[in-house]
Amino acid sequence: MGIISGFSKFDRNQRLAYIADHSELEVSKILSFNDYCAPNENQQRVFSEMIENYIGNFPTPIGVVTNMIINDEQFIIPFVTEESSVVAAASKAAKYWAERGGFRAEVHTMTKKGQVHFNWNGDPFRMHQIFPQIQGKLLNSTHDLTDKMRQREGGITGLELIDKTNELTDYYQIDVSFKTGDAMGANFINTCLEKIATTLQNLDELNSDQNSVEIIMSILSNYTPECKVRCWVECPVEKLTGWNKDLSCNLFANKFKQSVDIANLDISRAVTHNKGIFNGIDAVLLATGNDSRATAACAHAYASKEGKYKGLTQVTITDRTFRYELEIPLALGTVGGITQIHPLVKSVMAILKFPDASKLMMIAAASGLANNFSAIASLITTGIQSGHMKMHLSNILNQLNATEQERNLTNEYFKNSTVSHSVVYDFIMQIRITS
Ligand code: MEV
Repeated sequence: MGIISGFSKFDRNQRLAYIADHSELEVSKILSFNDYCAPNENQQRVFSEMIENYIGNFPTPIGVVTNMIINDEQFIIPFVTEESSVVAAASKAAKYWAERGGFRAEVHTMTKKGQVHFNWNGDPFRMHQIFPQIQGKLLNSTHDLTDKMRQREGGITGLELIDKTNELTDYYQIDVSFKTGDAMGANFINTCLEKIATTLQNLDELNSDQNSVEIIMSILSNYTPECKVRCWVECPVEKLTGWNKDLSCNLFANKFKQSVDIANLDISRAVTHNKGIFNGIDAVLLATGNDSRATAACAHAYASKEGKYKGLTQVTITDRTFRYELEIPLALGTVGGITQIHPLVKSVMAILKFPDASKLMMIAAASGLANNFSAIASLITTGIQSGHMKMHLSNILNQLNATEQERNLTNEYFKNSTVSHSVVYDFIMQIRITS
């Protein structure tokens, strides 16, 4: 295959034809990329112009978690996920806690940060003398850009020099703090940072025949520990009934606590534990058009803030009260980005009753805690596979192109038997041989 130039100028059909010519995609399968295009031309344009080299839409199911109560308010929460058991697991925990007072959540701060990374080849002592004099100029240079955000009580809230010359010769950062209201604000932050960088590069105070500023890069930081939400559930230990009738409330509480303590001391378990939290958080972020990669990168760094990767949740059992808490940084937005563009994100926001960014942070955190609670509660009782594989059964049946009759027989049989791919396969083959 030779190097291709101008692929992005091709139309969608030309791109698909090129791919079929240069890959193992059968020509007959090209049409499958048409199956998921939006029927409405305007909506289809939204998708086709969202990314470069677009060839089609890639559908993922959207479902809803019901009975979620957060701070006494009831929500129906849309989840976008490909994992069969995620919505069921979150819904089960949501209902369980709805009967025990619901989830509680609070947002602590919503400050975001960006950095201008630069070199300056002068005496660091001089830099520290000069910086307070130029701070105002740097800030003023962004005034036009921050005007609208300041009207909404946002904008730049701090501008600080960080001297890194001990670690890297001549290297400094300007750390800029932002409040971006209900927007995630990535573009706003990056635009401001680039303006500050240009101003810095042109300041007489730092640029002369002897010394000059060399900008390395200007970019927001996705590490947002100042965008923190705390979410918890709590009830008397005696009320921890019903998840599994074979386990007493005390044993449930103690085993639950130990499983969470294990995630706090063992990285192999911690990563899986936190992945379970992200089953819910990611599903909400995808449904609401938020950046799930930024959020995951941040939360996993946050999980290592004590120098060791840990689980993001804590259990306490005090005076016979069981409390389960998640603390997580989530820099989310409900305006801007694709929230105003994606046709389904708009509907998702309506289902959520148009939350502001702070409420969405609480919704996402509660969803993560719900999924994680469900996973732990199953792990310490029945194990995860029975519920997980029951939900996965229909995927296996779809893979085997099962008929309606085969589905009915299989669903009936596996009500009381353990599901695995090979056992279901054998079961279907047996039906096919004997019929
Ligand atoms: C599966 O998607 C998530 C779990 O592995 C999470 C956990 O182990 O806590 C069940």
